[in-house]
Amino acid sequence: MRHAPIRVMAVCGTRPDAIKMAPVVRTLREDPAFSVRLVATGQHREMLDQVLRLFALTPDEDLNIMTPHQTLTEITLRTLEGLDRVMRAHPVDVVLAQGDTTTTFVAALCAFYHKTPFGHVEAGLRTYDLYHPFPEEMNRRLTAPIARFHFAPTERARQNLIQEYIPPEHIWVTGNTGIDAVLWVAQQPVMPRNPELQRALSHTGRVILLTTHRRENWGEPMRAIARAARKLLEQLDDLVLLAPMHRNPLVREALQSVLGNHPRALLTEPLDYDEFVHAMRKATLILTDSGGVQEEAPAFGKPILVLRHTTERSEGVEAGTAKLVGTETEVIYTESLRLLTDPEAYQQMAQAVNPYGDGKASQRIAQILKQAFG
Ligand code: UD1
Ligand code: UDP
Repeated sequence: MRHAPIRVMAVCGTRPDAIKMAPVVRTLREDPAFSVRLVATGQHREMLDQVLRLFALTPDEDLNIMTPHQTLTEITLRTLEGLDRVMRAHPVDVVLAQGDTTTTFVAALCAFYHKTPFGHVEAGLRTYDLYHPFPEEMNRRLTAPIARFHFAPTERARQNLIQEYIPPEHIWVTGNTGIDAVLWVAQQPVMPRNPELQRALSHTGRVILLTTHRRENWGEPMRAIARAARKLLEQLDDLVLLAPMHRNPLVREALQSVLGNHPRALLTEPLDYDEFVHAMRKATLILTDSGGVQEEAPAFGKPILVLRHTTERSEGVEAGTAKLVGTETEVIYTESLRLLTDPEAYQQMAQAVNPYGDGKASQRIAQILKQAFG
């Protein structure tokens, strides 16, 4: 029987890293069996801080690596050097990180260099297209052979890993910790602070919520997405578009150049997570290329059109609440208009389903680690 606490290093760098690791860190910190060191790479600055603040988490170390227009190589190098420094100073029993960001892949690599077991939260998602999403498909594939603990959100993810010869006894289907986060936040009282969100919330007509940030969509595809949104606003007078813009200047330029002067296009700073959850609940329809939003929207019974050509989250598509529409203006416009004008088509997609988790993924992860190290 082990007496010393299990030393965990939890790593996050981007907004979704923080959202999906926050419930894990909070759960482990409540349990005296663990001692948790939270390391932020700062791959995102403002968007990471927004989430950590909401979950009342202060990193023990912050590598603060972000620069404007950072390249993948820069993120990789700065993160690896920084994490290596931290791991030399503070050896741990296990390193944890989530998903497919460069922060996560590098955390796995650094754990490997230190011969420390790595636990992959949200393991096993695949599109089987190396460049979609880029670089995320490669990040998660490179992480898999390093990981000792694969916390798969769904049975499909588990099967993907088994096909890659990951030993089945190293895989657990836990659900997605992002569902733990969204259900927790949905229970908290929220006072909307963002003025554009306030305007959308008080709007009596319909609201489209739009987010886009994927690297594959930078440039012309993102402008095509914005043109579809503009066409919808011009077609339907009661419609308001709420678009919390990712901090990336390339995203802002694309959205502002097409939608900036439309009176019913509410372009705003990224919303705090609790406010964004409020916005999802208010929305009639969600247009997004986000991974996390694809997992959350079905929980609220919101139809979601996915602005991508492939998805690793096919469970929502199969459940009928999500549809892949790509990035062509006409296709996005036509599919959105159909949902906004055909109540039967809308009702078919507005089913509340939760294929990605039940809110208890973090508890399962804690149990699995206790058994493994106990
Ligand atoms: C990153 C992840 C992606 C994830 C996304 C979530 C990688 C390679 N990509 O993509 O998997 O889906 O986060 O949002 O890990 N910026 C700021 N402030 C912020 C955040 C970003 O100014 O708080 C700007 C900076 O100019 C930065 C740029 O956005 O250089 C891009 O950030 P980066 O982390 O490189 O890529 P993302 O597109 O955000
Ligand atoms: N989100 C947020 N504020 C916003 C937009 C999104 O808090 O203005 C949340 C959203 O609820 C989801 C997560 O950010 O949990 C998704 O992050 P993002 O789309 O940046 O990354 P991805 O999931 O595509 O990796």
